[in-house]
Amino acid sequence: MEIIKLAHRWVRDVLFDGALAIDATVGNGHDTLFLARCVGPAGTVLGFEVQEAALSIARRHAEEACLGGRIRFYLESHAGLADRWQQDFPGQTPQAVLFNLGYLPGGDKQVTTRLESTLTALEASIALLAPGGLISVVLYPGHEEGARETEAVLAWAKALAGPWEVTLCQPLNRSPRAPRLLVVERPR
Ligand SMILES: C[S@@+](CC[C@H](N)C(=O)[O-])C[C@H]1O[C@@H](n2cnc3c(N)ncnc32)[C@H](O)[C@@H]1O
Repeated sequence: MEIIKLAHRWVRDVLFDGALAIDATVGNGHDTLFLARCVGPAGTVLGFEVQEAALSIARRHAEEACLGGRIRFYLESHAGLADRWQQDFPGQTPQAVLFNLGYLPGGDKQVTTRLESTLTALEASIALLAPGGLISVVLYPGHEEGARETEAVLAWAKALAGPWEVTLCQPLNRSPRAPRLLVVERPR
């Protein structure tokens, strides 16, 4: 199964009507729209993206799907996630945070997620996450920055102490450079 589909399965399982969710890497908005459907009309999705062109496509997709009212898009790095949340959703908790790392397929490969900002956003997500919620991270070790990022994110996840349940899904009969899925769950 495509790794992003597997990520969606995990995430769908913890979302409900009225939930809050975060898409840390909006791109063209396919994952954002998926989250918006899962949280229903009473829910809200926050979406972060650093490329204006990608964000306009995502906005258009959201409007076409009549889901724009459930989504707040931010043309900002996910490194600012904690501050943004504090400002716009104080006292509330997200049920799911989705990271689909790397660069936009068919886009500029230089505009890729970087381990420093990714780790900052992961730390913020851990601090905010609701009990029973999860963080899903699709990792792409097949390119240079993606390999560095994968190594750093997995080291971060392995070191998580406390109640966190950490799972890595990796295809065994494919290249070790194939995409992987990391899931960090916060038990109830
Ligand atoms: C694999 S793509 C995401 C695909 C997307 N979720 C979709 O459904 O189309 C990764 C995206 O992360 C974005 N990105 C890179 N650095 C970022 C950052 N610091 N904060 C937010 N987004 C970032 C890239 O511009 C790119 O669009």
